[in-house]
Amino acid sequence: MEQVTIGRSPLVTSRIGLGTWAIGGWQWGGTDEAAAIATVRAAVERGVTLIDTAPIYGFGRSEEIVGKALAEGGLRQRAQIATKLGLAWRDGVIYRDSRPARIRSEIEASLRRLRTDVIDLYQVHWPDLETPFAETAETLEALRREGKIRAIGVSNFSPPQMDAFRTAAQLDAVQSPYNLFEREIEADVLPYAARMGITVLAYGALCRGLLSGRMRPTTTFEGDDLRKVDPKFQGDRFRQYLAAVDELQRLARERFGKSVLALAVRWILDQGPTIALWGARKPGQLDPLGEIESWHIDDASRKEIDAILKRCIRDPVSLDFLAPRPQRPAGVDR
Ligand SMILES: NC(=O)c1ccc[n+]([C@@H]2O[C@H](COP(=O)([O-])OP(=O)(O)OC[C@H]3O[C@@H](n4cnc5c(N)ncnc54)[C@H](OP(=O)(O)O)[C@@H]3O)[C@@H](O)[C@H]2O)c1
Repeated sequence: MEQVTIGRSPLVTSRIGLGTWAIGGWQWGGTDEAAAIATVRAAVERGVTLIDTAPIYGFGRSEEIVGKALAEGGLRQRAQIATKLGLAWRDGVIYRDSRPARIRSEIEASLRRLRTDVIDLYQVHWPDLETPFAETAETLEALRREGKIRAIGVSNFSPPQMDAFRTAAQLDAVQSPYNLFEREIEADVLPYAARMGITVLAYGALCRGLLSGRMRPTTTFEGDDLRKVDPKFQGDRFRQYLAAVDELQRLARERFGKSVLALAVRWILDQGPTIALWGARKPGQLDPLGEIESWHIDDASRKEIDAILKRCIRDPVSLDFLAPRPQRPAGVDR
């Protein structure tokens, strides 16, 4: 498994990370704990040692499952845990809160759920526009000095927001949406991170399953699965994305003898010092891991991929629907 050093921290991880949002169940139609635990363990056993989670994923459930899988499997020392801070929830409302006092209590809850005494990569989940970024950054540097975290990251931050954050902390990583269908960060975050030596964790590597090759126009989703409202999975637009997947599948097979899923993950890894976060909740979903190493996408194929996307997706849509509310709700102390 390819490895990468996270920014200027001492942390070295696999270049593919296991995403555990779906493992939390919420917004993914529920979770199967036994399958989730088996998935975390299979990932580590197969060299995917970076496990990305967050308190908000299942309101603690994802962190608990990751903690249980690693601790009871005797795998903690072989894995690197990336979790997040700065999203709070109350009466069904999710909001941003990265104030120092809250970070102090939030990290203790995460350490407890994760059954560990150190978080390898601690990331601000969404920019909190009501708290000076330097205050959050200073608190994270203090946690690093205290040995509670090993590396500092942000997520969903723009370069100007990272500039403000970096006045008070060494920023090692940024986590942003990035996959064949969601490429906005190529205009700003990707070049900024390359210039500043910040590692990019690309989230939604499979575009929430669209790039797995499993989806059909008739595919439906259960319960509270967010793909019921995700604009990419609706009507004619869904068919446009699926048509692109069909063509990418053909290219992957004919050129490289690979699946479209492998093409999608390899494409992210070939973009620079990136990590691909691949969400999975059943061990079998990690079977394509063997297809990703030891090859690269050449420039001609890269151009052809771009042409396929341009031809098939006439009505692209961004990921804005995911953003949690920027203001703290009335009633939350200020
Ligand atoms: N920082 C942020 O704001 C943020 C936002 C989003 C995500 N993330 C992180 O990034 C991670 C990855 O993103 P994601 O989980 O949203 O989406 P993703 O990786 O693009 O897609 C995950 C989904 O793809 C499907 N899949 C995976 N392997 C498959 C296989 N071999 N065959 C068929 N289907 C397969 C599964 O869907 P089914 O289970 O339905 O089959 C899985 O739940 C998250 O888990 C999370 O850690 C962070």
